[in-house]
Order: sequence, then structure tokens, then C-alpha cells
Amino acid sequence: MFDLGRAFAAEGKHPIDLSLGNPTVKPPTAYYDALQNILTESRSSLLNAHAYMPNAGYPATRARVAADVAKRFGLPFTGNDIIMTVGAANALDASLRTAIEPVFLPDGTIRTRQDDVIVTAPYFVEYDHYIKQNQGRVVVVHATDQFMLNVDAIEVVLSKYTAAILINSPNNPTGAVYDEQSLQKLARILQKKEQETGHTIAVIEDCPYDQLIFQGHTFASILPYYKHTLYVTSLSKSLGIAGERIGFIAVNPDWKDDGELVRNALVANMRTRVVNAPALPQRVIERIGILHTGEIRTYEKRINRLADVLKELHFRFPTPQAAFYLFAELPPQFADEKEFRQKAHEGNEPLLYTPGAAFGSSKYARYVRFSACASDEEIERAVGKLRAICHRN
Ligand SMILES: Cc1ncc(COP(=O)(O)O)c(C=O)c1O
Repeated sequence: MFDLGRAFAAEGKHPIDLSLGNPTVKPPTAYYDALQNILTESRSSLLNAHAYMPNAGYPATRARVAADVAKRFGLPFTGNDIIMTVGAANALDASLRTAIEPVFLPDGTIRTRQDDVIVTAPYFVEYDHYIKQNQGRVVVVHATDQFMLNVDAIEVVLSKYTAAILINSPNNPTGAVYDEQSLQKLARILQKKEQETGHTIAVIEDCPYDQLIFQGHTFASILPYYKHTLYVTSLSKSLGIAGERIGFIAVNPDWKDDGELVRNALVANMRTRVVNAPALPQRVIERIGILHTGEIRTYEKRINRLADVLKELHFRFPTPQAAFYLFAELPPQFADEKEFRQKAHEGNEPLLYTPGAAFGSSKYARYVRFSACASDEEIERAVGKLRAICHRN
């Protein structure tokens, strides 16, 4: 998508790029202040603030993150439960590798290898790569019509080979926020399955958008209901620092049975890929914590603007509740996504978006994802372009 945008620009065109989730809202003042102070102090300090560190991250940063997640979820996290990572991507990779790899138990036995990872379509394009890279098998179930968690469908595909369930709320691409009842129900069926098979089934809860919740909605985590949960996130979206690559894994403090092994395996699996998360953003997080955000209401405003216009043009979609994406089915006047794309790319102002088929299932071949990571001016140009394409057709 980056390349396509550049290619259009090189032809002298003015692309309208609603394709990528690359944050346009800048970090809050607290972030810049902390960064500046750290650099000033580092320059005059006798100690080197940029040297190696423990693989799981600075103890002080981990303690600060633990205090903030404890506050959010009402669970007794300590620094030992937190592993700082290179964004959510690295956190997902380490979590999947840990869930899929065979585990060496203290009595010398090896836990049976399980390799199925259940994902709910539509899902973030990269999941396939993260799972396959770790020799996992992607097992796809579909979300409900309203893009909510379909727990009954998950129950059907659970087996003795299930290593993990990967859930993503708020969701990319749909902006859906899973409700607490579904998460409780999922926890209950997983506990039952664990008893039946004698295996741990990990829930990897991928939540980089959970601070970008729209007014009137609330985020619920499965953490309080399911002890074998790895909560995975990053500061990429909430602070608008995706390029700085900082995130973390929080292991449920209630994960006690094989929990120490899992915590150690997570660090080992992080270490052999990336050694540790970058130092500077960790030092910022140590000072400002994880609860600050940029002006994220800007995204909500832009999504609402797009939603109003797309409804008027007969696109079909449940209204997003969070994040900065809108996932919509094309109006019936377009034979398929290819026809829509041809029209969108025509002219001096090509409109870029992500085709629905990129989100894990051909069921979404008639869908498109628009991202509100654009300027207000770009959103207005998109509105004009969409009206032109749809009215002309
Ligand atoms: C659902 C989801 N998970 C994980 C990631 C990766 O996040 P990060 O850039 O922090 O690695 C993204 C990025 O867009 C995402 O949308």
C-alpha cells in the first residue's frame, strides 16, 4: 500500500490514502517532555542510559506497566508478569511461539505439542504470518454478522490440538469491541476443554486499540475470567509512536500452574529474535506509564464522518465502536471489489483502501476497509471521491 501510494504520486497524481493504520495523531505533550528530560539527563549523567538491559526490559519500566495494568484490570500484576516487547507484533510472535512450542515440565516430561491457533475472521493480515512462522496451523472461524466473537463457532473447532485462541478486541478491521458476556462464555468453554484434554489452552488477547474506544462504549478483557491469558498490546496507536516499536506482554498473575515456565519461555522466545525492546521508549514509559493518549477523539470524529457518508451511499456495516477503521460491504451496484477498485483508482485523485479479502477469508471479498489515519482534508477528499464513484455508477 505504501508503494502503491508512492507510485501514484510519482505519476503526478494526488492519492487519497485511507489504506494504512499508520497513526496520524501525534503523541501527547507528556511523551515529548519525558523524552526530552531523559536525553538531557542522560547527557549529563555519569551512567550510560543506552547500554544492554535484562531481556524482559528495565525492571522499573516493568513495575510501572504492572501498576498501570493492575489499575485497569483490577488484578495483582507485578513486574515479573510484564515482558517489554518490540511492539505488539513481537509480543504476538513470542506469545505464539511459547504457546505452540513443546513445553518442558519440571518433572522432566515434555508437554504434547499443540499447534492449532484459532482466529476469528475478519482478522489482521499479519496473523497468518506470525502463526505460520512459528509452525502453527491457522484455524479460522467467522465472527457474527455484527462482527462479534462467535463463541459457539470456536467451541466447534476446539480440539486436543488447540494451542491458543487469538482474539483481537477492539478489532482491526471492524472496530468491534467484544462484550463481557461473550468473553466469560469463552472462558467457561476453554476451562472445560482444558479439563477434558489436560492441556493448557492460551488465550492471546491482542489489544493495541483498547484505549481508542469511542464514546458510549467500554472495553472488556478476558483477563479476570481466564487465568491462561496473555494480554498483548503496544503503545503504537494510543501514543501514536508506531515507529518507535514498543509494546508488552502481560501474563495473567493468576497463571500459576505452569506460569513460571511460560514467563521464562516468553523471555527466551523474545530474546532469540530481538534481544530486548528499545531502551528510550521504555524509559519514557517508566515515567509516563501506559495510560496517556494523543488526541484520539480525532479518529472517532473522522470515522463518524465516513460512516455517515457511507451509509448514505448504501454501504453496509455495523458502526465501529473503537480504533480507526471502518469495514464495509460494497453497495449492490458494484459487481465486485475489482470493479469498485478500478473506479476508486481512476483519475487524478486515486482512493486507496484495503480490500476485504486481505482479512483472512473470501467471505469478505465484497468488503473494503477504510482507515481514518488521514488528515481531515484527506477525509473530505475521500467523501467527494466516494460520492462521485457511487453516483456515477
Ligand atoms: C490487530 C493488530 N495487532 C497487532 C498490530 C501490530 O502492532 P505494532 O505496530 O505495535 O507491532 C497491529 C498493527 O496495526 C494490529 O492492527
